[in-house]
Order: sequence, then structure tokens, then C-alpha cells
Amino acid sequence: MKYSSSSSSSSFHYFLRERCLNKGRLSPFFMSFVLVTVIFVPFIFYSINHLNPISKHALDQKLPLFKPHPSNSFRGYDNGILKKCDLFKGHWVPDPHGSRYTNSSCTSIPDSKNCFRHGRSDRDFLNWRWKPDKCVLPRFDPKTFLEFVKGKKLGFVGDSVARNHVESLLCLLSKVETPIDQYKDSEDRNRIWYFPNHDFTLINLWTKFLVHDEERMINGSLSGTFNIYLNKIDEGWSKELPILDYVIISDAHWFFRQIYLHNSTGVVACVYCNSPNVTDYGVGFALKLALRSALTHINNCKNCKAKVTLVRTFSPAHFEDGGWNTGGRCNRTSPLSESEINMSGPEWELRSLQMEEIEKARKKGGKLRKRFGVLDVTRAMMMRPDGHPGEFWGNKWMKGYNDCVHWCLPGPIDVWNDFFMAVLIREAS
Ligand SMILES: *[C@@H]1O[C@H](CO)[C@@H](O)[C@H](O)[C@H]1NC(C)=O
Ligand SMILES: *[C@@H]1O[C@H](CO)[C@@H](O)[C@H](O)[C@H]1NC(C)=O
Ligand SMILES: *[C@@H]1O[C@H](CO)[C@@H](O)[C@H](O)[C@H]1NC(C)=O
Ligand SMILES: *[C@@H]1O[C@H](CO)[C@@H](O)[C@H](O)[C@H]1NC(C)=O
Ligand SMILES: *[C@@H]1O[C@H](CO)[C@@H](O)[C@H](O)[C@H]1NC(C)=O
Ligand SMILES: *[C@@H]1O[C@H](CO)[C@@H](O)[C@H](O)[C@H]1NC(C)=O
Repeated sequence: MKYSSSSSSSSFHYFLRERCLNKGRLSPFFMSFVLVTVIFVPFIFYSINHLNPISKHALDQKLPLFKPHPSNSFRGYDNGILKKCDLFKGHWVPDPHGSRYTNSSCTSIPDSKNCFRHGRSDRDFLNWRWKPDKCVLPRFDPKTFLEFVKGKKLGFVGDSVARNHVESLLCLLSKVETPIDQYKDSEDRNRIWYFPNHDFTLINLWTKFLVHDEERMINGSLSGTFNIYLNKIDEGWSKELPILDYVIISDAHWFFRQIYLHNSTGVVACVYCNSPNVTDYGVGFALKLALRSALTHINNCKNCKAKVTLVRTFSPAHFEDGGWNTGGRCNRTSPLSESEINMSGPEWELRSLQMEEIEKARKKGGKLRKRFGVLDVTRAMMMRPDGHPGEFWGNKWMKGYNDCVHWCLPGPIDVWNDFFMAVLIREAS
């Protein structure tokens, strides 16, 4: 058995230092390869179904509403109220205003997320707004955001769902400024956008596991089984860490496959393996330890600028009546209520493991003057089985398969940026 390294972003690293321009092109073969490996391989083993309602205590919806107060705030973001309020505990309420952009006002929506273009006809899923139980979540305000991040570099570290978040951010910002496409690697995984009017740099750093990985080769071909190394951070993003002012980190969907976890002494555990001398501790265990390694690395990084790191929690998929490759679909057209989501299912468990790691990093970071915040999107998104492309993702190679992992643009994923702005201002000021 041989191993091949799958970390390949040294040219990207070079770019960040040298700022040379490079236009990436994608060959059709490569595209289909990417679609199969990046989009669908994460669904393998992924057959979580949590749409069976459970009865939970009904929420008192008559709590007082707080309005952002203009004083003691960054342009209307009242830290006093936002600090006391759990932004992530709430429900979706009807909002006749609908989405803040369309597929014509935002020209950067990737084809696979442009659901209306591919025939999605229901629009009600746009007419909902997230309402935290004890306050009002201010809507993302692109002007204020760009002023806040003036002169800064923001990095998103994660997989294709992290990229989905970036795409939503680009659409929301497009009302104020369209960035210059400064760098794109040949696989369109690592990417840099520059907003000249605000000297703001947005960087996408693609990583599967946050830590270093090698895909196992069996008889000369890639096996889909990965070795991951908990004592070695994925250099693709960690090399760029020193230049970033703000970091948003996430991981999840690549962990739903066969993985062998290594520390400096050797194999310590596995996921979905069937080996006599290695224990399968499950997806959560691997996810937790990889996140711990990444956050420890950030805390220990002496030459890093980043004072604020945000972790985005698990983004649930919504395959119903089957898995990704057995006819599973997600064709609902409205959100679920809080009583209809399963809080004892695996999604919430993964989110809770992530929260524990964030708390540990936060305790340690306090002494090192580093701050850790959380975009705890899991609960809100568990209620949005209607937000995925489903069959409307325009894929020619994989007709009949539904994408119930990524999110339509515009769509409920835009709330991630409402959360992001509120938390960034809270943590950074
Ligand atoms: C936007 O969506 C409409 C359907 O609502 C579709 O006809 C059109 O082609 C889309 N436009 C773009 C630029 O994708
Ligand atoms: C690799 O190839 C050898 C010889 O062709 C074969 O005996 C063996 O079963 C193969 N191993 C796997 C895991 O496919
Ligand atoms: C590696 O993992 C094993 C088993 O969990 C543990 O006993 C050992 O202390 C670990 N080594 C290091 C360097 O973390
Ligand atoms: C299991 O143990 C055997 C014997 O000690 C060793 O040869 C083998 O490499 C081990 N397998 C794994 C997956 O570590
Ligand atoms: C979803 O698809 C199934 C099977 O085609 C159909 O029975 C059901 O009515 C659809 N649901 C919605 C909300 O369209
Ligand atoms: C919630 O999820 C757990 C764990 O998967 C499962 O055992 C339980 O049956 C689910 N409850 C409902 C009501 O679906």
C-alpha cells in the first residue's frame, strides 16, 4: 500500500506573497472528477435522516423584542443586547421582504447553486427571517461590513460548504462593491478576491480535514480511504494563517468516509473501518480531534495576526427517503418548526462536540489574547430542509442525484452572514 499526498497549494502560497495573476481553467474531465469527488463523495456513508418530528417543549414566543440601539454600538449594532442574547436559539418567522439579492443582481452565483436557473419554481423559501428568542438579529449590512473590515484580510478555511458561505457573502457585498478576482487555482479551490475601494481581501482556503491528509492508494489507484495526521496541520491553509486578520473555520462532510487517524506515535483510531487492531470511534471523534488540532495550532501560532477566529458549526444535510445515492431527495418548500427537528440526532451531537472544542480553545486563548467566536448555525439550518438545490443544481453528469448538502443562492444560508457580522463585531470590538 502506497500513499499519495493530496495537499497541493504551494503555488497558492507563492501567490499570496508574490501577487502574480493566474487565470485558472477547468477541463471537462477535471470538472466531472471534481463533481464526483468533491460534491458526492462527501455523501458516502451520509444517511442521516432526522426529519421525524419529536415533541420538544414549545417555545414561549411572546418574549420582548429588543431593537438595536444606536448608541454604544458600531453603527447600530448594539453590543450590549447582542452580547446577552443567544443569537442561535430561535425560530424562522415569515418575512415578506424576501431575499436581498437575485440571480441577476448577483452575477457571481455559481451555476450549481443558482437553483432558479435550473427550474426551481417555488419561492416561498426566501420569505423567512431568523428570529432569536430574546432579540432581533440585525440584517447583514454590506456598507457597515466593508467599513469594519477596511484594510483587513479575512480567510475562510474549509470545504465546499465553507465556499458556499463565501459565495453568499460575495452576493451580499455585491450591492456595494464587486471585487477584483485576484487569484484562482486550477481547481478553483483556493481563491482571492480584492475589494479595492475598501482595501479588503477575502481569501478562500480549501481543506478537507483541517489537518494533513493522504489518500491511500490500492494497486495504483486512489481508494477513497484517507489517512489523517492529527499532529500535522494542513499546510494549504496554515501557511497563510499569519497574514489573516480574521479566520472562519469549519469542517465536517469529508469525515463521513473511511479514515485512519494518526498521531505522532501511529494509528490511534479509525472511522468506518473494519480492522482488527484499530478501534472505530466514529465520525464525531475524528471531527473533534481534527478541530482541536487546528484551534491549538491557531492558539500556539506566535507570528499570527489573527486576533479573532470564528468556528462555523455543522451544516446539516437533508436527504429524505434515501441516501445521496439511493434516491434521497429534499423537495420540501417550507421550514420546519423547532418541535419538528430531532435534537437527539447525530447533527446536534457533532455540533456539541465542536462547541466543546471551541470552549477549550477559548479558555486557552484568553491567556494568549486570542478570541474565539462561534457561528452556531446548526439548529437554524436543521429547520431548513427547503434550502438545498435538490434536483435543481444543473448537473449533467449526475442526473437523478439530488444535492441536499449545499444551499441555494439566494436562500437560508444568507443568514450565516447575518450571524457572521453580528459575531465579528461583537468579538472584534
Ligand atoms: C435567474 O432565474 C430565472 C428564473 O427565476 C431564470 O430564468 C434566469 O435564467 C436566471 N438568470 C440567471 C442570470 O441565472
Ligand atoms: C491488487 O492487485 C493484486 C494483483 O492483481 C490482487 O491480487 C489484489 O487483490 C489487489 N488488491 C486490491 C485491494 O484490490
Ligand atoms: C497517540 O495516541 C495514543 C492512543 O490514543 C496515546 O496513548 C498517545 O499518548 C498519543 N501520542 C501523542 C504524542 O499524542
Ligand atoms: C495490525 O497488527 C498487525 C500485527 O501487529 C500489523 O502487522 C498491522 O499493520 C496492524 N494493522 C493496522 C491497520 O495497523
Ligand atoms: C416530493 O417528491 C415526492 C416524490 O416525487 C412527492 O410525492 C412529494 O409530493 C414532493 N413534495 C413536495 C413538497 O413537492
Ligand atoms: C432522533 O435521533 C436519534 C438518533 O439518531 C434516533 O434514535 C431517534 O429515533 C430520533 N428520534 C426521532 C423522533 O426521530
